[in-house]
Amino acid sequence: MAILVTGGAGFIGSHTVVELQNAGYDVVVVDNLCNSSEKSLDRVSAITGKPVKFYKADILDREAMNEIFDREEIDSCIHFAGLKAVGESVAKPWEYYENNIAGTLTLVDVMRKHGVKNIIFSSSATVYGDPAMIPITEECPKGQCTNPYGWTKSMLEQILSDVQKADPEWNVVLLRYFNPIGAHKSGTIGENPNGIPNNLMPYITQVAVGKLKELGVFGNDYDTPDGTGVRDYIHVVDLAKGHVKALKKIEDNSGLSIYNLGTGKGYSVLDIVKNFEEATGVKIPYVIKPRRAGDIAVCYSDASKAERELGWKAENGIREMCADSWRWQSQNPNGYED
Ligand code: NAD
Ligand code: UFG
Repeated sequence: MAILVTGGAGFIGSHTVVELQNAGYDVVVVDNLCNSSEKSLDRVSAITGKPVKFYKADILDREAMNEIFDREEIDSCIHFAGLKAVGESVAKPWEYYENNIAGTLTLVDVMRKHGVKNIIFSSSATVYGDPAMIPITEECPKGQCTNPYGWTKSMLEQILSDVQKADPEWNVVLLRYFNPIGAHKSGTIGENPNGIPNNLMPYITQVAVGKLKELGVFGNDYDTPDGTGVRDYIHVVDLAKGHVKALKKIEDNSGLSIYNLGTGKGYSVLDIVKNFEEATGVKIPYVIKPRRAGDIAVCYSDASKAERELGWKAENGIREMCADSWRWQSQNPNGYED
């Protein structure tokens, strides 16, 4: 039996395929490569020493998905495929709702028609909106999202929960990621954003490698120790390992479960700059800019539920996250185009 990984050529997906193969799982990847390169999977193979079975297909393509489920013996699905650029989602809401929501509906329909009822879904801390409590536990009520991307995550959580409620044979794990950064220790796979990065760490590494002049720090007047935004950065390899633990949970017929995947620690933008400089020896010039629309001041997790119930805990600290992000970027200044 195999694990179907949708979006497996992407940043988090490729790291998760490594951990799945290392744990002995057979993996089938489906990705339409709209935001990734097939080269990531060649590199996954080089890391694990195992081939990766890959289908270039869109999860909205029902016929293609049916064929994959007919051909492969799929047991569970880890569902990463989706569009994820917050700003773009504001400009193109329809495209985000269609790709993320209709894509997931098609996937779930094909799954149930093939009797596959186990799914792990990539959700996000964004579903908490401006969080009602810090640190954020899973009991924290979901909030108002500030963009269509966030709403797709919030709505898909509801849809998958309702599907599980109606048919208790389903096992659904909603994983709410905090801020994934870092890269595999080999420096051969990592985050490969298109164009100018929106997220903090890829922006910093592109400044470090000389592709961008300086970092803009979005606001220094938040109610935080140094005035800049605080987030819970998590190493992508730790995040990937969380998915392997979630699969074990599903094997016990867990029904619906929800976990925060974070470290439980908050770092400000300036903390990240400082840690990056100390971990790499590279100076990051920055300027203070106005706040970015839709940003919140503070967001970090209480991730103790995942530790209690999954036996999972993030192992890498902020220095390792910075060093590993830098190893990937410095070895691959143009990502997979090198
Ligand atoms: P990514 O863009 O690197 O990976 C997503 C992959 O899905 C890409 O390879 C893309 O080509 C593929 N894809 C998109 N639409 C598809 C479709 N219709 N059919 C087939 N493939 C499709 O992003 P990532 O950072 O690896 O994120 C993975 C998941 O985790 C996404 O669902 C994202 O929303 C979620 N997430 C990411 C973050 C983050 O900060 N990176 C935080 C929270 C949640
Ligand atoms: N920031 C800057 N300058 C930049 C980029 C970011 O100062 O050039 C700041 C932001 O204002 C924020 C912090 O760095 O305070 C982190 O910003 P990111 O864009 O890296 O991450 P976000 O917390 O805004 O959002 C990310 C993902 C979302 C996801 C969320 C929670 O982009 O998709 O984490 O998981 F929903």
